[in-house]
Amino acid sequence: MKTDVHDCALAAAERSVRELIEAGASNRILRKEYLCDTVVLFELDNPLVARSARAGEFVVVRPALQGERIPLTISDADPKRGTITIIFQIVGRTTMELARLEQGECVPDVCGPLGKPTEIENFGTALCVGGGVGIAFLRPITKALKLAGNDVLTILGARERKLLILENEMRAISDELFLTTDDGSYARKGLVTDVVKELLESDTKIDIVFAIGPMPMMKAVADVTRPFGIKTMVSLDPIMIDGTGMCGGCRVTVGGKTQFTCVDGPDFDAHEVDWGEIKSRKSYYLEEERVAKEMLAKEANR
Ligand code: FAD
Ligand code: FES
Ligand code: MG
Repeated sequence: MKTDVHDCALAAAERSVRELIEAGASNRILRKEYLCDTVVLFELDNPLVARSARAGEFVVVRPALQGERIPLTISDADPKRGTITIIFQIVGRTTMELARLEQGECVPDVCGPLGKPTEIENFGTALCVGGGVGIAFLRPITKALKLAGNDVLTILGARERKLLILENEMRAISDELFLTTDDGSYARKGLVTDVVKELLESDTKIDIVFAIGPMPMMKAVADVTRPFGIKTMVSLDPIMIDGTGMCGGCRVTVGGKTQFTCVDGPDFDAHEVDWGEIKSRKSYYLEEERVAKEMLAKEANR
């Protein structure tokens, strides 16, 4: 049965498609670049998202019309050019499908900006800590902190040299940059938490910490900063489906309260996060994810 609500929803959908077409938001891939073997950068034509994107926000992307929806951080936005940059690590079926799109082709679905922007102010000295592909999420926040007048110290880490991304871009927006690799193949051997601990134990005044990377890394940074009582923000990455607060898939517990990461986050106080719950919820679909990846490989060999 047709209702007023349906009519309104249809009219809104038609309006937004019309707006997208008028704004020329083709989601065409204007630049495709491999930052390393497994990390891909797309610069997409999308003036609408580029105009309104703020640090900390993300888009939900579908590489094929029948495909799965996945959230990806808006790593950069250029309102003048009307472009946004997304950077993604190839980990499973959907990121593999996305990586198959070539420069000049269009991403069929890009929805955003979504999420709550990061709360940026002049805190004094901000310590930004990024690990792996998390460096792509950290870049817009670091840039916004610098623009707000903060002194920005940045620590970037990766398992090995070839996985360390955006070194030059992050150096350009940081007052001081520290680099680590787990295996010592570049810069200092060790973990980002080694540098965090050293800085906190020295005379360096740090007013706030932003840590973004794999979940064990963010938890480890939180464990280091907790005894020093320094506010520490992390960007959580639970499984998301709609990205608009309706499905509950991205539920996390922070400070004993249920929060939906897509609308209440993704930034949360690291000292309040229930890390055990996120770890368990993120592993719910490991078997299905493995099968989906295998099926894609089989389809490719046919
Ligand atoms: P799969 O094999 O399906 O999954 C691999 C792992 O990715 C899973 O075990 C799970 O931990 C995670 N994952 C799977 N499906 C989802 C989903 N729908 N939502 C969230 N996580 C999922 N990755 C980047 O490389 N770059 C980014 O900028 C980036 N930004 C993100 C921003 C947010 C707010 C969130 C929540 C996640 C972000 N991610 C980002 C993670 C990215 O969404 C997953 O790597 C991607 O969904 C994996 O899909 P897949 O099918 O290739 O892999
Ligand atoms: Fe559905 Fe957040 S992704 S509620
Ligand atoms: Mg998947």
